[in-house]
Amino acid sequence: MIHGHITAWVLTLILFFVALSLHKSGKEKGLKIVQMILRVLYILIIASGIGLLFMVNKIDVWYILKAVAGLWVIGLFEMILGRVKNNRNTSVFWIQFVVAFLLVLYLGFVKLPMSFLHP
Ligand code: HEM
Repeated sequence: MIHGHITAWVLTLILFFVALSLHKSGKEKGLKIVQMILRVLYILIIASGIGLLFMVNKIDVWYILKAVAGLWVIGLFEMILGRVKNNRNTSVFWIQFVVAFLLVLYLGFVKLPMSFLHP
């Protein structure tokens, strides 16, 4: 479950940057396809995240924060791609992206116990 979760968000992160570069080089058709795959991956991240929550004995506030921050990151993937496509300013969302992503990595790898880094 945890490996599925990690695979899903790593793949999402890679395809997110692929989507940005496709837009930059004007390949809007490719972008559309990658965006469709991304939306499937969002569902997989959320499903595996919820699956992990079900494995937890006592869900405390850190888990809630982890889930909210994870959803926030997914929302930002969508916001940034949507705004980039319409040539709108994304700097505020990039700042949020860095903050939310670091928070999620900290909570996932350091704070919460189910880590594959320190088993
Ligand atoms: C892009 C979004 C997300 C990223 C980058 C992310 C990242 C991570 C990382 C790095 C871990 C730790 C893996 C490990 O220690 O081996 C983790 C675990 C976890 N994630 Fe996510 N996650 C995201 C979205 C979500 C969502 C939406 C939920 C809930 C609905 C969620 C729930 C969980 C839970 C419950 C764990 C286990 C925590 C533990 O006990 O160690 N995640 N995630």
